[in-house]
Amino acid sequence: EKGGYEHFMLKEIHEQPSAISDTYRGRMLVDEGIIRMAGMDDNMERIANAKRFIIVACGTSWHAGLVAEYIFEDIARIPVEVEYASEFRYRNPVISENDVVIAISQSGETADTMAAIKLAKEKGAFTFGVCNVVGSSISRETNAGAYTHAGPEIGVASTKAFTTQITVLTLMALKLGKFKGTISHSDFQYHLREMELIPNKIKDSLKSDTIIREIANIYKDAPNCLYLGRGYNFPVALEGALKLKEISYIHAEGYPAAEMKHGPIALIDEQMPVVVIATKKGHYEKVVSNIQEIKSRKGKIIAIVTHGDEEVRDLADHVIEVPETIESLTPLLTTIPLQLLSYHIAVMLGKNVDQPRNLAKSVTVE
Ligand code: M6R
Repeated sequence: EKGGYEHFMLKEIHEQPSAISDTYRGRMLVDEGIIRMAGMDDNMERIANAKRFIIVACGTSWHAGLVAEYIFEDIARIPVEVEYASEFRYRNPVISENDVVIAISQSGETADTMAAIKLAKEKGAFTFGVCNVVGSSISRETNAGAYTHAGPEIGVASTKAFTTQITVLTLMALKLGKFKGTISHSDFQYHLREMELIPNKIKDSLKSDTIIREIANIYKDAPNCLYLGRGYNFPVALEGALKLKEISYIHAEGYPAAEMKHGPIALIDEQMPVVVIATKKGHYEKVVSNIQEIKSRKGKIIAIVTHGDEEVRDLADHVIEVPETIESLTPLLTTIPLQLLSYHIAVMLGKNVDQPRNLAKSVTVE
């Protein structure tokens, strides 16, 4: 059942190329230049005329929501708020009929996310579900939705659900951008063609496994770890830190790289591993100067870089390469080495990777 892999998590990491193509197949018609998604096509006016999107989710799905915030605002020019479902439901939120509330949930059973959707419906908002489990409670409760086609995710640590959520949300943003005219035809086509290349680029990223294992072996006993990124890769830093925490029990924090100087930089010394996402597109030079700040305080730098990068290679203690792509799609690639890094550290520490202590695959109680 694990298809020859030692753990479900590793199997699911390796399934991402096919999970992503299963998610866009039949929806992205590249030659025709259209995206077909029934849940959106049937409600296009309502969704595209929304004054605002509110995304509600928990954990990794919330991180996918943060990536979506950048994509929706960038491509479809719709204001987006991303909320922890547990906070949203209890704070008497201002919601109106002009809002679209999007719930993101792998299981479709998360109690807080479900309660947030019920509240949004009561207040007259249009609700949209991005779920993986077909027929799940959230997918049934929402007014419309689009499934991720990741297949069953068994490992408690979410991997392919995250990247397929980003895939669906990207398609939604592109479809809306096209409908609203906020993206040019050529840019739209360019995004679709780049998306089609992602599965093979993930296969390429998976080849870094040997290097990542070596890095894991060096840092597996570190008590703490920082993850930094900017822009589209800030949520990826949060996700990398969550993956490490939940399966290896090493304390980790994700931060937007520029926030370092507002506090966390005080933590840096020669013992502190800092994972920095420093891909070429988007704020590259700014991230390079953040890396210099860490280096001058003797932090150990593990950098995720674009294939062929030399500038960061000179500064970092370790580099892990990912192929180049357009900025909005980089999270689909930069996430991969972070998943593998936490996986290998947890295995080396002898932890129960697929069923970490104190955690459940779906959190059906609040
Ligand atoms: O099923 P959901 O996507 O609603 O689950 C949300 C979180 O419980 C989930 O992402 C959790 O954070 C994972 N263990 C993260 O790996």
